[in-house]
Amino acid sequence: MRIDNVTIEKANKNDWGMIVSILEETGLIDRISGNGNHENFYTVKNEGIVSCFAIFHKDKVGILKSFGVKKEYQGKGLGKLIVSKLPGLISKIGLSTLYAASWEAPDFWKKAGFKEIKFDESKDDYFLKYADYLEKNYPQFKDKRKYFVFKVS
Ligand SMILES: CC(C)(COP(=O)(O)OP(=O)(O)OC[C@H]1O[C@@H](n2cnc3c(N)ncnc32)[C@H](O)[C@@H]1OP(=O)(O)O)[C@@H](O)C(=O)NCCC(=O)NCCS
Repeated sequence: MRIDNVTIEKANKNDWGMIVSILEETGLIDRISGNGNHENFYTVKNEGIVSCFAIFHKDKVGILKSFGVKKEYQGKGLGKLIVSKLPGLISKIGLSTLYAASWEAPDFWKKAGFKEIKFDESKDDYFLKYADYLEKNYPQFKDKRKYFVFKVS
């Protein structure tokens, strides 16, 4: 696969099976509740779907979740390439700020250009509620968890 040759599209309901399969393969499925669906998801396509992520948002603030790259494509720069396309995508959706939280791969987010923040440095309620939810529901990852922000000017 040429990794510069990917497109990002809003997921449709036919993509859900492949999204679930990527989330299972990448160990991210546990955080999708039973009635999860494609609605906030995006797919990254080459010959087929090679990656997926979700963006939840309120007003101009977005939260990136469930970012997984299919195992066979990991470690080839694809994740970084996808993140480099996010400013264009989030501007199109009308967002100015995108947050992410990670305890699985915090170094990846830094390398991909997100800035690390302490969660109480943010003034965005939408993000603060999410961070609070993570702190309460996943206390076992407290020491590993890091928060990241990406701003589009
Ligand atoms: C994390 C993930 C999205 C990264 O995608 P990728 O295509 O493999 O990443 P890239 O090849 O673009 O790597 C970019 C850089 O991040 C580093 N990196 C990638 N995955 C990493 C990880 N899990 N931990 C730490 N660093 C990582 C790479 O070594 C590379 O460093 P370099 O620029 O110095 O060479 C992907 O590996 C994945 O789906 N992992 C399982 C699910 C997961 O952890 N998702 C994140 C949830 S918050």
